[in-house]
Amino acid sequence: MNKNFTKLAFTPTVKVIQETMGSRASYERMEESGDRYILTEAECAFIESRVDFFMSTVGENGWPYMQHRGGPRGFLKVLSEDTLGFADFKGNRQYISSGNIASNGKAMLFLIDYPTKQRVKIWVEAEYIPIDQAGDYLEQLVPEGMEGEVVSVFIMKIQAYDWNCPKYITQRYTADEFVKYVLPQNPGILGDEKELKDEFEL
Ligand SMILES: Cc1cc2nc3c(=O)[nH]c(=O)nc-3n(C[C@H](O)[C@H](O)[C@H](O)COP(=O)(O)O)c2cc1C
Repeated sequence: MNKNFTKLAFTPTVKVIQETMGSRASYERMEESGDRYILTEAECAFIESRVDFFMSTVGENGWPYMQHRGGPRGFLKVLSEDTLGFADFKGNRQYISSGNIASNGKAMLFLIDYPTKQRVKIWVEAEYIPIDQAGDYLEQLVPEGMEGEVVSVFIMKIQAYDWNCPKYITQRYTADEFVKYVLPQNPGILGDEKELKDEFEL
């Protein structure tokens, strides 16, 4: 089997259900469709234009956990063709993702772009590095002006990735994206509401 997401996601029970539901044959072919863990330009551009993503980890007790990570655009960085990294900022000090990654290293990132309805799933072997041991990574990963906010860094070796289809993603926009994508096509959309115009600095 090639090094692609099917190896990690298609467990025996998943395969049994694929068989029952009639999709097993086509997915069996996908298992042999080649490696997919080295980032191309398309993935790099997508990753480095994120302002947030979701990260799932697994606790020592087997329970999955999911959290949101956000930061300045591009805070999730491509360190090499199969390595990502980001600096973790001060939060509620529960350190659940940190503990889960420190115990077993498995994580999965879910990146979504609502205006273009694109999403990417990335399976990683992750390393939790406390700030006092982060050394040169700090220079690479800490966004400008956020030095005082960082508690640790995560370095993540990509094991597989997969782009999803856009179905059922509702388009939505940040204020910046609204001005860039929506307003030019809908010049009257804000009406005469002074309050809204002030908010979007029009
Ligand atoms: C003051 C403060 C309070 C927060 N409270 C919560 C909270 O109650 N629940 C939550 O899910 N996130 C909360 N957050 C956001 C998390 O702390 C942040 O996402 C952190 O990275 C979570 O890490 P963890 O879930 O891996 O432990 C808070 C952040 C700050 C700065």
